[in-house]
Amino acid sequence: MEKKTLLVAFSTQKGGIGKSTLTVLMASYFHYVKGYNVGVIDCDYPQYSVYKMRERDKEIASKIPYYKEKSFLQFKTIGKRNYPVDRTPAPNAIEGAKKMIDEYIGDNAPDVIFFDLPGTLNSEGILQTLASLDYIFSPISADRMVLQSTLEFAGIINDSIISTGKSQLQGLYLLWNMVDAREKSDLYKVYEDGIGELGLSILKNSLPDTKRYRHEMTEMIAPIFRSTLFPIDKRLIRGSKFDLLADEIEELIHLKQ
Ligand SMILES: Nc1ncnc2c1ncn2[C@@H]1O[C@H](COP(=O)(O)OP(=O)(O)OP(=O)(O)O)[C@@H](O)[C@H]1O
Ligand SMILES: [Mg+2]
Repeated sequence: MEKKTLLVAFSTQKGGIGKSTLTVLMASYFHYVKGYNVGVIDCDYPQYSVYKMRERDKEIASKIPYYKEKSFLQFKTIGKRNYPVDRTPAPNAIEGAKKMIDEYIGDNAPDVIFFDLPGTLNSEGILQTLASLDYIFSPISADRMVLQSTLEFAGIINDSIISTGKSQLQGLYLLWNMVDAREKSDLYKVYEDGIGELGLSILKNSLPDTKRYRHEMTEMIAPIFRSTLFPIDKRLIRGSKFDLLADEIEELIHLKQ
């Protein structure tokens, strides 16, 4: 039997909370480290920030011999090319995914496609796209406004997608991003209790607020954190807690079978 490609998004209506960062980091980690076949569809018009990151990454890798060599070595080691990053308006995202599956590298089917969606739920097309996904992960931070907006988002997903019974959606999970190490954990506990009372689930692993999450590939040679061509450098994984989150998500969406 042909295996099904999972459709996953880090999505919420709040801006600047790490959707694109998580999309890139997870896509690269699953494709280059965990060995899955991954695709990314950037639907966040007009910024298209993931698509543009891929363009920048490619330009740097073609200009700097160190990165060119690194890319070649990676190709030889893992035996496959970079994952595709397409750009599609959000209402056409699922069509875009079908096309990506049909044209995927080396006649393989992708195991998972990640979507970077816009934060606005103001069109039927976007809701339709969300209803066609298998999993949605909504990044949040311990900030009243962020939480309020995320809970509203989750409410809309619940009312207009899950409760209709017509959606594909198997799970909607919140996840803490930009966690301040100095903040008291009781604060998080209070928020989590509230989230639980609303019947929402939250992932066990969270990501700290650290500058490394902002580091991209530049022309300077340095360990890589955020890139569409390479995974997080092993030296930077420790303290990022990213590997733990990736393991949790891998398990939750049943990628292993
Ligand atoms: N864990 C983290 N620690 C520190 N900075 C972070 C972390 N996660 C994301 N950032 C930074 O926060 C900013 C917003 O992240 P990102 O662009 O991924 O968010 P977004 O939700 O996609 O935003 P937009 O709504 O603009 O699409 C970026 O500068 C990013 O580098
Ligand atoms: Mg973004």
